Order: sequence, then structure tokens, then C-alpha cells
Amino acid sequence: MCDQKLPTIWILGGPGSGKGTLCDRIVAKYGFTHISTGDLLRDEVNTGSARGQELVKIMKEGALVPTSVVMELLKEKIASKLESSKGFLIDGYPREKQQGEEFEKTIGPVDMVLYLKSDDDTMVARLLKRAETSGRSDDNLETIKKRLETFHANNDPIIEAYQSKTVIISAQQTAEAVFAEAETYLDSLQ
Ligand code: AP5
Repeated sequence: MCDQKLPTIWILGGPGSGKGTLCDRIVAKYGFTHISTGDLLRDEVNTGSARGQELVKIMKEGALVPTSVVMELLKEKIASKLESSKGFLIDGYPREKQQGEEFEKTIGPVDMVLYLKSDDDTMVARLLKRAETSGRSDDNLETIKKRLETFHANNDPIIEAYQSKTVIISAQQTAEAVFAEAETYLDSLQ
């Protein structure tokens, strides 16, 4: 599905590690298309559809929604941007190893995996701060703890499977420093 020449980058990291923040900066410099699976799911919830109502329950539990649902939304979005895109930043996907396999089988190969590594305390503190204004139903301590559990249960096998394409960046530095480090890797893709 993806044009082989378009770079495809997966942005991984726990809840609140700074995936979206980094993607905004990458988009500003490189002009890539940013697709956040969390945003796609929240858009579906906001339609008020029956499927959206099921999704919000799962997201409030901090669990993973079924891969088939995420893949359908992801494929649709990528297809709609293929003509105009300079490359894709896929934020928050894959969340489990099998999602990565499914992506490469049906969409195309990944070129680089950027993993934002952080300790839990930092992520919790950032999300609780964001909760003051985000209005997100999953930005509360109970759900944040479950999101972290889900992340820890699934992330290592993904990193292991894509070791040769993965770069690990400490998320515990300023957003500017995170981006500066990411730039050194992204420049090699140009
Ligand atoms: P999703 O929306 O992807 O949530 P998440 O992974 O928990 O990540 P966040 O968006 O909360 O945080 P972020 O890492 O983007 O950090 P941000 O830049 O915003 O997913 C939500 C739910 O949808 C999942 O729990 C799941 O249920 C479902 N879902 C999504 N994808 C799925 C999939 N593939 N399969 C199945 N289910 C899926 O930053 C956070 C805060 O920190 C901000 O306030 C920011 O300003 C601040 N900040 C960022 N960087 C820094 C920094 N360097 N220093 C200081 N503060 C910083």
C-alpha cells in the first residue's frame, strides 16, 4: 500500500513519554504526515457511533482496542494521504508485536522505530499535569496506571523484534533536546 520510497517511522513510548510532542516538531521540520492512532480512535469516539462507544470503554480501562479496528482506521488515513505525503510518522503504533507484523504485511515496511524511553514517575507526572486541561477521559491516575501496565506488558517484544531499526532516545530531557537527538537519526533517512 505505501509507496516504497516514502519513509515510514513508528514512534513508540509509554503514555506521556512525549510521542505527540516530538511528532509536532518532526512535522514542522520534515513535513511528514503525522498519524496518531490514539487521535484516530478519539475521532471515532467523537462521532458518537456505536463502535465509538465500545472504544471509549476500552480506552478508559487503559487497555488496547482490537487491532482490526486500529488497522482499518490507519489504512484509511494512510490511503487518504498517500498522494501528498513526504513520509509517515505513525504515533502509538504498534502497541504489540503482532500489530507490527500486521502493518508490514498489509501496509508496508517500517524504516525506523523511534522509542522514547522514560521512567514511570516522569510519565505519570506529565499526564497528571496535562489532565488539568486535556479533558481526556483516560488522563486520571487510575487509568494512567492501567495504561502503564498495558505498555510494560507489550513493549519489550516489539523493541526486540525491530532491534535493527530501533533507536532509543531518552524522553527525560527537554522536548527540544529530544527533538535534537531525533534529528540526527532522521537526517540519515533523507
Ligand atoms: P494515545 O492517545 O496514543 O495515548 P498514549 O500512548 O497513552 O500517549 P499520550 O498521547 O497520552 O502521550 P504522548 O506520549 O503522545 O505524550 P505527549 O506528547 O502528549 O492512546 C490512547 C489509548 O488509545 C490507548 O490507551 C489505547 O486504549 C488506545 N490505542 C491507541 N493506539 C492503539 C493501538 N495501536 N492499538 C490498540 N489500542 C490503541 O506529552 C504528554 C505531556 O507531557 C504533554 O502535556 C506535553 O506537553 C508534556 N511533555 C512532552 N514531552 C515533554 C518533555 N520532553 N519534557 C516535559 N514535558 C513534556
